[in-house]
Amino acid sequence: MMQVIHHPQEMQAWSRAQTRSGATVGLVPTMGFFHEGHLSLMRTAASLCDFLVVSLFVNPTQFGPNEDLDRYPRDFERDIQLAEKEQVAVVFAPTPELMYPKGFQTEVQVRQLAAHLCGKSRPVHFAGVATVVSKLLNIVQPDVAVFGEKDFQQLAIVRRLVADLNLPVRIVGHPTVREKDGLAMSSRNANLDPANRAAALSLFTALQLAQAQAGQGQLSTAALTVLLEKHIHSFAGTTVDYVSFVNSETLEPIEVVDEWTVLALAVFVEGKAGKVRLIDNGFVLPRQRG
Ligand code: PAJ
Repeated sequence: MMQVIHHPQEMQAWSRAQTRSGATVGLVPTMGFFHEGHLSLMRTAASLCDFLVVSLFVNPTQFGPNEDLDRYPRDFERDIQLAEKEQVAVVFAPTPELMYPKGFQTEVQVRQLAAHLCGKSRPVHFAGVATVVSKLLNIVQPDVAVFGEKDFQQLAIVRRLVADLNLPVRIVGHPTVREKDGLAMSSRNANLDPANRAAALSLFTALQLAQAQAGQGQLSTAALTVLLEKHIHSFAGTTVDYVSFVNSETLEPIEVVDEWTVLALAVFVEGKAGKVRLIDNGFVLPRQRG
């Protein structure tokens, strides 16, 4: 039977008991409103451990003052039902008060990696992510934790903080899970306007366009960026936040596409109630894949 645990201390005691008995523990951190991407991470994580913990916590500190914390989709009951169908031993669902009690003041900053891409338009975001992920790893004490490549910068930051803080956990990346038409799954897709769904596809088609161009020898990221921005803006109701070609390890911008180039995109799409910020990314190779 799957358990739901709310208290960090209880969660830690549960994990320590498993570890002491020789079992391995896995963790998939989430903010809930599960989709196939989350479930796919759970399946991978379950195959890598004896007991899987899924954390479900919409972390307020990773949202800026004008961001969508209030609009972030939530459905606890549905999430519990979906988790029950997977091999989940525990859903860890703390409250903000339990995670950030009165007097809380510590922050984890991964400085350089957080300065690029989403860090520019979301200045407080990655300190919030790095801090809550550090806390979750200390509370659950997993042997392995699985994160999605869809949040490429987040994965890089988590790998860095785990190395820098000597946290005894293996971090595993999971490929981006997409809808049939290529749209990367995201809880935020629920806030899209179905009538304007085509606009959300501007990201995936931009990744395809970049690969096609690079495959034909267009390796100048300046030229590609102009082309991609034009492509994205050709979809009604889109505003580009960034189109960036970066080194996959350092996340620093690069001028010429090479074997280590990731194209990262963030686009605002007109949704049901205000703009929805979508991200996507993928490697771009200087020759055709396959
Ligand atoms: P959330 O957006 O709920 O995502 C939870 C995990 O699912 C992350 O590792 C994310 O990269 C992964 N994920 C989301 N969509 C995916 C997709 N389409 N394919 C593959 N993986 C996908 O990311 C967060 O929550 C939070 O920042 C968190 C790490 C929980 C810290 O609060």
